[in-house]
Parts: sequence; structure tokens; C-alpha cells
Amino acid sequence: MTRESWQTRLGFILAAVGSAVGLGNLWRFPWMTSENGGAAFLIVYLGIILLVGVPGLLAEFVIGRRSRRNPVGALSELSESKYWSAFGHVFVVTAVVLLSFYSVVGGWIVRYFAESFTGAYFANPGAHFEAVNYGLEAVAFHLVFLAITAFIVHRGVRNGIETATKLMMPAIVVLLAGLAVWGVTLDGAAEGVSFFLSPDVAYLQANFLDILPAAAGQALFTLSLGAGTMLTYASYLGEDRSLAADGTAIAVLNTLVGVLAGVAVFPILFALGAGAGGGGPGALFVSLAGALAALPYGQVVGVVFFGVVLLAALSSSISMLEIPVSFLVDEYGVSRRAAVGGLVGLFAVTGSVCALDRGIFGTVAGPVVDLLLTGGLVGFLLFAGWVLGTTATEELGRGAGSLTRSLSTPWLYAVGVAIPVFLIFTFVSGLADALGVAVAPLSLLGVTVDQTQVFLLVTAALAVASFLGLRRSQSVL
Ligand code: PHE
Repeated sequence: MTRESWQTRLGFILAAVGSAVGLGNLWRFPWMTSENGGAAFLIVYLGIILLVGVPGLLAEFVIGRRSRRNPVGALSELSESKYWSAFGHVFVVTAVVLLSFYSVVGGWIVRYFAESFTGAYFANPGAHFEAVNYGLEAVAFHLVFLAITAFIVHRGVRNGIETATKLMMPAIVVLLAGLAVWGVTLDGAAEGVSFFLSPDVAYLQANFLDILPAAAGQALFTLSLGAGTMLTYASYLGEDRSLAADGTAIAVLNTLVGVLAGVAVFPILFALGAGAGGGGPGALFVSLAGALAALPYGQVVGVVFFGVVLLAALSSSISMLEIPVSFLVDEYGVSRRAAVGGLVGLFAVTGSVCALDRGIFGTVAGPVVDLLLTGGLVGFLLFAGWVLGTTATEELGRGAGSLTRSLSTPWLYAVGVAIPVFLIFTFVSGLADALGVAVAPLSLLGVTVDQTQVFLLVTAALAVASFLGLRRSQSVL
């Protein structure tokens, strides 16, 4: 059986952008931004996209294109080690976790899209969201969203994913731009624009260490990094074109859509006196729905807005389902149809658990995902830097211009050393946070160390240990 591949380079780029642009930009980004100081968060987040996101994306691309396999197959084949093969299975778990909660939010979107036609949620947005967010109806809408996702994926890489995202991406950009232009012309929108775009430097300085893990988690989530999605999509590349050019285009487009979403959401919220909105997963649904209710033509705007969100969510959910599908197809020779069918059965159950229990949902959608993505990306980076080594720089150079080739060795140092150290630091502090452990201030031999210093020490120790353990002869490091 010959392996599937993209029909065109643009098809690959749009599918990858489609994976990146999703609820991360439209639902999680406004929520995280409003909880972490607006523009102050935006700056840190943009910095991480550039310094961690783009090099990380290239690491996944390099592993995917080199191996032409799913994440498990790629790691085991390129390393010939059973440990890496075992580690690869983490990505199958990540995909299950991701799609389980994502499909529940997708279900909320399907519902709000349909209800926008009648304005059913207008009268009392807060109570409405509370009434529908968890429970049997949420299960039903989750299943609808899952079914649409499965339908697209079962049609295959070209006919399903490539065709769907080619139609969806332009529609998303046009609709969102229209919404943003309309939003900033509302009375009182200026305050929303400035909350989103002009940073409060004092806030940034005082809260930098709190903003950092949230911004890193959001940056990985929005670029679909650390899950093996981008690796899998790159594994369907037929010819050698510049990965660096494609990766940069994907990151730039995703960031533009994210910023556009902020420009659409915040002015509308402020114009209607909703402020940045309360925290939590309901932020978008409650405050935006409330805002829509108060607007002229609110129903039309609602249909457009939730329509955009639905398209964006689907182009991401298909990329999550594609990870385990490619795993079953590559590794076990299962047909695509059977793989999709079996997985849908599994996700129907795991998603329903999230749709029924708000506690499980919150833990899965927040800290569990952040940790899995951060840990997953560290794995890919160390793999590219230490197992592939010069093979990675050679792969990055294929089909690339002279600029990429001259940057490939610095890139290897970044992915092999600097970025993993940074990510392990955020992983450790995120884990401590999630478990509620306070590791400081601590008094050691009369010297008092604070929390940051403890994290730095643990990070350094872990980093040194993993580098020593992973050293291979062809590595240039
Ligand atoms: N990037 C997607 C979004 O922003 C989410 C995603 C994460 C998709 C990881 C695939 C893998 O909605």
C-alpha cells in the first residue's frame, strides 16, 4: 500500500495552519490573555512563538519528513531504540486527551452556532451556559462534533483534510476580518483595543514568572506543538521544499489570526461593558454571548462568529484524530476507515466523561494538556538535537535556501540545548503548580533560596542528566 501524501504545497501549508488555528486562538487565547494582564501576556507569548515555537515546529517537521511515519514509527525507526518507541506512545495518549476535551468544546460551539439563529442564549447568557455546558446534552453535541471530524478524516489526507482546510481557512480569515473591522468601529471599542495591544510594563515586571508558563503552554497549544500533529502532517510531504519557509509562514499566519481574533473579541466585550470577562472556560461563551444579545443584528453576528469558530475548531480536531489514525494505519496496517471507526468509539466514551464532569474537564483541558505538550515537545527537541544530530541539519537543509542552511547549526543548538532547558523549567514549575507544591522559600545550609532558584537548579540537573543519557556519536553537540 502506498502511503498518502499532500497534493500541493499550499494544501500542506493550509492544513497545518488549519491545525494551528482553532479554539486555541479563538477560545483559549482571549481567556488566557484576560487572566494574565492583556498586552503584557501578548508580548511574552509572541516572544515564545518566535524563539520556541518556530524552531520547535521545524524539529517536528524534520522528524516527520525524514521518517515519513507517524510519531511512534518515526521515533522508533530513526533511533532504532525501544525506549524511544515506548516514548512515542505518549503521543497517542496526548491525542486522546486533546480530542476528548476539544470535542466537548466543539459541541458547545455547534450548539451556540445553531442557537444563534434564534438567539436562544441571549436572554441570560450566564445561566444558559451553566445549564448546557456539562450533562447529557453536552454529550450529545460532543458526539455531533466528533462525527463531523470523523467524516472528514475518513475521507483521507487529500480528499478529506486537504480539501476541507482549503475551503475553511480563507472563510475563517474573511469572516474574522469582517468581524474585527466592525468591532473596532463600535462606541467604546478603544478601551478593548488598548487592553489588548498596549502593555502595562509594571504589571509585566511584577508578574513575569507567572505569565511565563501560561504563555509557553498557550504558544505550544496554538501552534499544535508537542502532540505529534505537525510531525504527522510533515510526514505526508512528497517532495523536498523548504521546511523553514513553510514553518515560518505557518507560524506567522497562525499568529495573525490569533491577533485578529483578539481585535475582534476585546473591542466587542469592552464596547458592551463586559470588560475582559471573567476567567474560566466559559469566558468566551458568557461574555461574548451577552455582548451579542445587546447588539443590533446580534443574531447575524452570532451566526458569523460561531460559524468561524466552528470551522476553525474542525480544522484542528481533524489534525488531532489524524495522529492515532496514522499510527494504526502505519504500524498495524489497519484500513483508514476501520481506524477512524474504532477511534470514534473510544473518543465517544472519553469525551463523554469530560462532558459530564466539570472537574475532569478543567483538569484535562488545563494543566494535563500543558504538561503533555511541554513534555512531548521536549522529547522531539532532544530527539532532533541528540539522536538525529547532523542528520537533522541535513534534513532541514533539503530544498532550503542558503539562509536556512547557514542557520541550521545554531538551530540545532537551540533545539538540543537552550529550548529544552527553558521548557523543562516551565514544565517543573507547571507541575509544582498543578500539584499544589510550594517549593520555597527554602533554607539550605543557612542560604535562603527562593522558588525560582529551586526551579532553576532542578531544571539544570534534569537537563544535564538527559543530555548525558542521550549523547550519540553522530551528534554535533
Ligand atoms: N492548535 C489547535 C488550536 O489552537 C489545538 C491543537 C493542539 C491541535 C495540539 C492539534 C494538536 O485550537
